[in-house]
Formats: sequence, structure tokens, C-alpha cells
Amino acid sequence: MIKHFLDSKSVINARHKIYNEDGYFVIKGFMTSKDAEETIDFWVSDIGDEFAGFVKNTDVTSGTPKYKYNRPTDRDFAYCTHIWNEPIDERMHEYVVISNMIRNQILSKPLYFAAHEATGQALQYRVNRTVSSDRVVKKHADYFSEYRADPTGSHVFDPSRLEITIFLSDYDKDYTSGGFCFYKNGENAKPIIFGRDNAVGRGDLVIWRYSIFHEVSNVTPISEAGFLRVIVPTFDIYS
Ligand SMILES: [Fe+2]
Repeated sequence: MIKHFLDSKSVINARHKIYNEDGYFVIKGFMTSKDAEETIDFWVSDIGDEFAGFVKNTDVTSGTPKYKYNRPTDRDFAYCTHIWNEPIDERMHEYVVISNMIRNQILSKPLYFAAHEATGQALQYRVNRTVSSDRVVKKHADYFSEYRADPTGSHVFDPSRLEITIFLSDYDKDYTSGGFCFYKNGENAKPIIFGRDNAVGRGDLVIWRYSIFHEVSNVTPISEAGFLRVIVPTFDIYS
């Protein structure tokens, strides 16, 4: 069993870091290095056939199969698994559920919120590998009154919303020059590049404010993993 629940002091500290200080909160070593290593080996192996073809966010509904998309090249991937799908990697699935519970602790939501679609929202997790130098995710903010052509549900302004990233790569070891750019000082200020400007890397959990501008760009891969990470969005599921 993975033990990472926050005690009440840590919850207060996490909220302070996220909402008053940095815009994000880190749990170093969320995954053990052995788990991280085996997880990486598994997800960069030849598993593409396990996933259905691309599904639009607006078409996701209870029972949608796990699916993938490759862009901008065939070597860049996003493998998307919903909470109702049979996981191809049970350990990753467990880490994701735990990470969501920690997010729920910070948000004062029920511990299992989004762990079942009956709660009104449901988890999806995306294992993403970027090995391209393009602006793979253009600069944007979520739940910030920005138009969305393909939203995961209601996208009304809500600066309390949080996103999760589990890092599976190390800057300057697996990739360099760019990656996750976080505009915590404003849309037009210089961004923080995770792993370069802070001590975040393989196996670390980051919970961050969705409404802060962010992008993924300028990745130069070094290892087979490139810039590999898992994000954990929630989808509104209407019954
Ligand atoms: Fe985003």
C-alpha cells in the first residue's frame, strides 16, 4: 500500500504553498525509485495496441475505452485511462487514485471524490511522453474563463481547481531545454521550468493550480523516456 496521505498540518502547508506562495505543492519521492523505473520501462514499451483510437473530451462518458493519441509525431504519445477501465498497469492506477485522494484532502472534498463517476466527476489519467521540440501544449490556463473547443465538462471560472502531475523524467537526464513551463508570476512573465528551476523530477508528485498559465514546449529528448509524466484531469460525467 502506498502511504502518502497528508496529516492536517501538511494539508494546511500544501494549501499555503498552492494558493499563497508557489502555485504548486510537491511530494518528493511519491513513487519509489524502483516503482518509477519499472513504470517508465513499461509505458515506453510497445503497448500502443492496448488502447483505442482518439476520443474527444466531449465524447467521454462512463464506459469509454482507454484510448491514445500520438502527436505531433508517432513517438509522442498520450495514453488515456479512465477510472472505469481495466488498468494495464495496476500500480500506476493505484498511484493515481492516491494522488487524487491527496488532491481531495487539499480541496476538502470527500476522499473518494472522482474515484467513481457517481460522484459527478471521474478521473482520467494520461501518461504523456513528449520527445518533440514543438509547443506541444500551447500556453493556456484552465478554469480561467478561457474558451475551450473540447472541454472535459463545465469550464467556468474556478481558481480553486487543482491539477496533478506525476513526473517520470529528470531534467538534463531524460530531456532538456524545456518541458513543463509554469507562469506563476503572470502570463507574460518568465516561466518556471520544472526540473530546471526547481527540484522536481522522476517519481515526484506535483499538485498545482489549474488556473495558472502553463505550457509544454521546447523538449529535447535525451533518454528513451524523453519528457514522461502523468496528468490526472477529471471529467464531468452526467447521468
Ligand atoms: Fe492545461
